[in-house]
Amino acid sequence: MSRSTSKTIYPEKPEEKDGQRNKEGLGDLPAPFAPLDLPPPDEYFQRKVALISGITGQDGSYLTEFLLEKGYTVHGIIRRSSSFNTGRLHHLYEDQHERPNKFHLHYGDLTDSTALVFLMARILPTEVYNLGAQSHVKVSFSLAEYTADVDAIGTLRLLDAIRTCGLTKHCRFYQASTSELYGLVQEVPQSETTPFYPRSPYGVAKLYAYWITVNYREAYGMYAVNGILFNHESPRRGRTFVTRKITRAQACLWLGNLDAKRDWGHARDYIEGMWLMLQGLDGSEPTDFVLATGETHPVREFVEKAFGVVGIKLSWSGSGVDEEAKDISTGKVVVKIDPQYFRPAEVELLHGNPAKAERMLGWKRKVNFDDLVKEMVEADLTAVRNFVEDQN
Ligand code: NAP
Ligand code: GDD
Repeated sequence: MSRSTSKTIYPEKPEEKDGQRNKEGLGDLPAPFAPLDLPPPDEYFQRKVALISGITGQDGSYLTEFLLEKGYTVHGIIRRSSSFNTGRLHHLYEDQHERPNKFHLHYGDLTDSTALVFLMARILPTEVYNLGAQSHVKVSFSLAEYTADVDAIGTLRLLDAIRTCGLTKHCRFYQASTSELYGLVQEVPQSETTPFYPRSPYGVAKLYAYWITVNYREAYGMYAVNGILFNHESPRRGRTFVTRKITRAQACLWLGNLDAKRDWGHARDYIEGMWLMLQGLDGSEPTDFVLATGETHPVREFVEKAFGVVGIKLSWSGSGVDEEAKDISTGKVVVKIDPQYFRPAEVELLHGNPAKAERMLGWKRKVNFDDLVKEMVEADLTAVRNFVEDQN
């Protein structure tokens, strides 16, 4: 990209016209701001440069692989941590020599506006994927304020960093919205028009993030969209989410609510949907999409299927906190209930309707429920056999 050096890189001074001064005697700043010297959007978009918050997470790592394959330069924001947090990206670092200068990590945080503005101005992305979040629903009841700061205000900070750098028309923004917005579901299945009723501090924070994304789209004409994604899992899923907890189980498995139902898909399928949402929609106005499988399964069924992959059949007995499952062939108890995993307010049922994404994006999930469970169990078995300490 060629960038002319003839124009100033400083913000324009506000014009001070009579009657335009507010009570403090300050002139209104023109919006959008234009502090950087940028080529017109058409020329700017010839580059393919993605900035990803949450790059070290499950989705961030799959999205990075996907975008690098498509020829993007990928920049990711990572948090400073005293423990190792880039395990899911390790293989991409090793591939660096095959794609020199295509993959960059930068320290930053969704709670740090200055860092976000600095990165935005330095990287000049064409696509921003906001995947960073305190993403654990149960934990959000313990860390409600922090979850709001990162998941809600963090989204605002990132959107404002785009505006501050004058990139309003120069970059597209993806917000990782969630089926947790539906919470106490108001209709079944849930679609883009289903009313929201979040049931956790996480869900409420994500509600703000959803609406601020819509608001910036409407107020400033930004290409900013929400992907309302139902649960998606993989061998890279964090270990404290129920699917991964189940597939890693080696001794007795202590779980919470076995009756909760989820619409579980494979993370890799959902990454493609995120990217499709930012590819222009054939000239249609930017809009929000549900990504889901259209099926729902109880946690209990995930448990049965996972044990089934290693040939163990279960028999259930008892109820409530006294429910347990035994291995039929050995009589050994393999699943028990621990109330500490119950939530103060539960989302009992999620069941998505992906019709709009299928119609407008041509998106469809490829991996079915049984294959998802199998892949996760087999990946964990392989890791155990090879004594591989995974970093997820
Ligand atoms: P994840 O594995 O928990 O990853 C979350 C990412 O956010 C990690 O990279 C984490 O960094 C980062 N992060 C946390 N706090 C941050 C902060 N203060 N500043 C910057 N980054 C921060 O989540 P995921 O499953 O990949 O999900 C990606 C996004 O989609 C999240 O926003 C999640 O809420 C949303 N979502 C997920 C699902 C799903 O089923 N997976 C469904 C709907 C929506 P560390 O590695 O340093 O912790
Ligand atoms: N984590 C966990 N641990 N959940 C359990 C357990 C347990 O031991 N036992 C039962 N569950 C139930 C939970 O009560 C919940 O109803 C269901 O299993 C799924 O829990 P999680 O795997 O923790 O995921 P989630 O549905 O709460 O949230 C995930 O999906 C959302 C999209 O709907 C996260 O990825 C969120 O970030 C995401 O937005």
